[in-house]
Amino acid sequence: MNTAPHLRRRARLAQLIGKGVAIIPTAPERTRNRDAHYPYRYDSYFFHLTGFTEPEAVVVVVAGEKPRNLLFCREKNEEREIWDGFRYGPVAAKESFAFDETYTIDQLDKLMPDLLADQPAVYAHLGGDSAWDARVLGWVNEVRNRARTGVAAPRDIADVHTLLDDLRLIKDADELATMRGAAAISTGAHVRAMRAARAGITEYQIEAELLHEFRRLGAQSPAYTSIVASGANACVLHYVSNDAVLKDGDLLLIDAGCELDGYASDITRTFPVNGRFSAPQRAVYELVLAAQAAAIAEVKPGNPWNAPHYAAVKVLAQGFIDLKLLTGDLAEVLEKETYRKFYMHRTGHWLGLDVHDAGDYKRDGQWRALQPGMVLTVEPGCYIRPGDGVPAEFANIGVRIEDDAVVTATGCEILTSAAPKTVSDIETLMASR
Ligand code: GLY
Ligand code: MN
Ligand code: MN
Repeated sequence: MNTAPHLRRRARLAQLIGKGVAIIPTAPERTRNRDAHYPYRYDSYFFHLTGFTEPEAVVVVVAGEKPRNLLFCREKNEEREIWDGFRYGPVAAKESFAFDETYTIDQLDKLMPDLLADQPAVYAHLGGDSAWDARVLGWVNEVRNRARTGVAAPRDIADVHTLLDDLRLIKDADELATMRGAAAISTGAHVRAMRAARAGITEYQIEAELLHEFRRLGAQSPAYTSIVASGANACVLHYVSNDAVLKDGDLLLIDAGCELDGYASDITRTFPVNGRFSAPQRAVYELVLAAQAAAIAEVKPGNPWNAPHYAAVKVLAQGFIDLKLLTGDLAEVLEKETYRKFYMHRTGHWLGLDVHDAGDYKRDGQWRALQPGMVLTVEPGCYIRPGDGVPAEFANIGVRIEDDAVVTATGCEILTSAAPKTVSDIETLMASR
């Protein structure tokens, strides 16, 4: 276990706090039905600070002249380990995860009031889970109840996520290495899907190819539910049924990415089931690809968050006019936002431990400036539902092209460029099946 990044992040949190105590629990296990649980996934904030993946754990950062890092975790229990597998226990966790002190989780309620005594502030995330809120406030109240012994209770209760969001937004070298790994696995999965696609098989059989590749190469899970949408299904933005049969002449839109060691990748590719774009499919596809290129050109330090979106929208809006999907001139289509009939989502989001990652998009009412180390997706699309004024040849075409970009000192690095996306690269790959 490389503990250096987590130590560095806890030290940075302590520095931001100055004096006070931060308390961050991991996620609970959740029952799916009766004795079956959902696959366990730790809390992203907790994991960012610890690298610790067991449930029932809390990290406490005591900031001040002598900062201390504490971990509360499950006890070592050989009986339970026969059923559920290895657990560190406080002794091994202290060593392996570089904590100053570790305790069993059942000590938390006893020790927290002592840790909060004479501290000016407690940093916790309140409002996410009422049982946790009550617990944190209970500890603060316990310290208040000791007032006559001369102990002072924290006067400020502040949101710890607000501090951590900023830390998470700029990825360090360790995080970028993992994200490159996640992106490489996902690009391979999209290539595998292109090779496997043919008329007569189902969307879920393509989903199986993606999942196979994710797990075969060591990713723990998908980062979100895979969208495998053929034909008109591609115009349903969050289509996840994945149960239709692929048809000759349809496009197939796949939005799928794995999670590797906590970090998400997020890729969309759209390609013809039979390996050749029809003329209308190609026209729409080339337009979305041009919009994506325009957006990627705007991913550079100093540009506002909105610049890639605005660039994509301008290209798409002109394209919708040229394809006779919309009437009016460009200024009017932009002003009245009529392009939203065919492009109704934004062009990207932060990417990291969460697929829609932590971090504000605006600061003081202004779009945030891009900085090196930020990771975002660039994902324009076009979704043409049949209807009034829609030329029949374009009806039910849905296209999205999505890549993952890291802002660098001079522009950006595309993590997912190995997944083919030009018409000729896609057709060449599919012809070689
Ligand atoms: N796959 C989720 C998204 O693209 O935002
Ligand atoms: Mn995305
Ligand atoms: Mn996506």
